[in-house]
Amino acid sequence: MDVKIVDVDLGDRRYPIHIGAGILAALEGRLNYAIKGRRVFIITDSNVMPYAQRVSEAAQSMGAVFTGIYELAPGEQSKSYEALRAVHEWMLGHAINRNALIMAVGGGVIGDLAGFAAATVLRGVPFVQIPTTLLSQVDSSVGGKTGINTPQGKNLVGCFNQPVSVIADIETLKTLPKRQVLAGYAEIVKYGFLGDYNFFEWLETNGRSVVSLDPSSLVQAIETSCRAKARIVQADEREGGVRALLNLGHTFGHALEAAAGFNDTLLHGEAVSIGMVMAFDLSTRMGLCPQADLDRVRRHLSDIGLPIRPQGIKTTVDEMIDSMRRDKKATDSGMTFILVKGIGQAFLTQSVPEDIVRAVVADYL
Ligand SMILES: NC(=O)c1ccc[n+]([C@@H]2O[C@H](COP(=O)([O-])OP(=O)(O)OC[C@H]3O[C@@H](n4cnc5c(N)ncnc54)[C@H](O)[C@@H]3O)[C@@H](O)[C@H]2O)c1
Ligand SMILES: [Zn+2]
Repeated sequence: MDVKIVDVDLGDRRYPIHIGAGILAALEGRLNYAIKGRRVFIITDSNVMPYAQRVSEAAQSMGAVFTGIYELAPGEQSKSYEALRAVHEWMLGHAINRNALIMAVGGGVIGDLAGFAAATVLRGVPFVQIPTTLLSQVDSSVGGKTGINTPQGKNLVGCFNQPVSVIADIETLKTLPKRQVLAGYAEIVKYGFLGDYNFFEWLETNGRSVVSLDPSSLVQAIETSCRAKARIVQADEREGGVRALLNLGHTFGHALEAAAGFNDTLLHGEAVSIGMVMAFDLSTRMGLCPQADLDRVRRHLSDIGLPIRPQGIKTTVDEMIDSMRRDKKATDSGMTFILVKGIGQAFLTQSVPEDIVRAVVADYL
């Protein structure tokens, strides 16, 4: 099967996203970077160690003078100050220099942490994203947001740092638990909901093949998602405007994740799935979106196997509203929402009457 290449055009920081099956086995020529004579630092987690080893072997065969793998514990707790410090000290201990290349092999946790470590060690060393979850292949590896969590919340410390290239090998998804595949799918269908009605229509027919990892549907869905994200990031790299549309469903979603305690009881993609339904519901109640579109959104997500309402999460309307006010997107003037005029027509607004938001939240708890 062909390898698809999506270009993220950010001028002198432009980079390619390679999407295909089995491309980790043939890395040469895909890194946008000559490895020969360089020191290569691979950051990964224990669930994806075999892929990191494959990358390490490839780097050696391409003439790297040093390759090392740093293995973190899987899970969100590795996006921490402690892990960042450990990674920094490991790299410095192995004589990293500005000529080196850092490679993130794993899901969004590894990509976010490694990207931030790469931005900050020696004031910046180039890095490559090798995403191994569906979510990271369609979302977190593209666009340059990197960072860690703090006790005050998720992703509160970080920076924008674009990779030199992204290599998404769909073969790696074969070992990904089904629940994680579905969570990644939520971010795929998000691109349809926010700005591409035709893509959503295509997913209504092909979504099941995507989540069952049929190679050609999967590559097409990842490619379309990356193109959508690239287009938005090119227009607004630092989220001054249109990039915020990528947060469709995330204001409600983050509040639900916070209530669930940011753990495996509710995965990010699951929270986004519910949050998108709530955003469509809010838009419908405000008379902006046809009821038929809300019904279609619900039907599709539940057909695929994603949750459309929270289950077993103990929280209150006040707690949810409080949490939404503290969202990073919130401004001094209040909560920001991504609403829709229908499938494929999202927009950003700050004028949402709080009583309607409360009514929606109350209905879902
Ligand atoms: N930077 C961004 O723009 C951006 C966007 C969205 C999400 N994120 C961040 O991404 C993180 C979530 O990413 P994620 O969903 O990829 O989570 P993750 O990195 O925690 O991966 C999920 C789980 O799957 C395992 N795993 C990864 N690849 C595997 C494979 N191929 N086979 C078997 N197991 C595998 C991991 O070890 C982990 O246990 C969050 O921290 C979120 O904040 C960042
Ligand atoms: Zn998300």
